[in-house]
Amino acid sequence: MTNGITMTNAVIDCILSRSATKYYDPAATLSDEQIRELVRIGTTAPTSFHLQNWRFIAVRTPEAKARLSPIAWNQPAITEAAVTFIVCGQLADSSVVPERLAPVVEAGIMPAKLIPDWEIPARDLYMQYPQRQRDEAVRTGTFGAAAMIYAARSLGLGSTPMIGFDAEAVHREFGLAKDEVPVMLLSIGAERPGNWPQKPRRPVVEVLNLV
Ligand SMILES: Cc1cc2nc3c(=O)[nH]c(=O)nc-3n(C[C@H](O)[C@H](O)[C@H](O)COP(=O)(O)O)c2cc1C
Repeated sequence: MTNGITMTNAVIDCILSRSATKYYDPAATLSDEQIRELVRIGTTAPTSFHLQNWRFIAVRTPEAKARLSPIAWNQPAITEAAVTFIVCGQLADSSVVPERLAPVVEAGIMPAKLIPDWEIPARDLYMQYPQRQRDEAVRTGTFGAAAMIYAARSLGLGSTPMIGFDAEAVHREFGLAKDEVPVMLLSIGAERPGNWPQKPRRPVVEVLNLV
């Protein structure tokens, strides 16, 4: 930073050095155990009212990739990256709050009597408002994907978030539920040489308002 303030550590280096991968090593795979671990890490991201309203479909076999590729602009990442996640957000639904909070009570983090204090505001916030339910699905999927992107980077893996796909076709082909939104595709895998470095960003003065 300027003004003599330097913020640096391994996590910040990881964030600063990430870029969207274009070229993957098509021979490099990830084990199902590694894929599960990436998703476990992703699901430690925050969600509104601890809804955890997400699902991740890991497209990693040649057969599954061949189903996804034509409905995702034939983007090379889908066939070449070890895995492409269909990151699904689920429409926010306050009725799941008690079951989602039960393990939090069980762990001794939250007293059971607080559950209605979460469920009722969630109901009032979402249940009559389809746009808010959908916005929350997209926020949730995005937070999960972001955590996976940086976890991947920290492990030396590349990643590509992708909106270049036919959402209706993906919904149909991969059996998403009525309340599920395909928020983005997220390819992750070992890179091959030739990827661009991170692109320059708009200056902070242009995007920050200090009030
Ligand atoms: C929501 C979202 C959708 C994107 N969709 C695509 C895509 O479909 N195909 C692609 O090659 N890159 C896609 N990208 C990557 C962006 O082009 C890239 O992040 C941006 O140009 C900045 O580059 P950098 O991430 O390397 O800094 C997407 C990124 C985001 C965040």
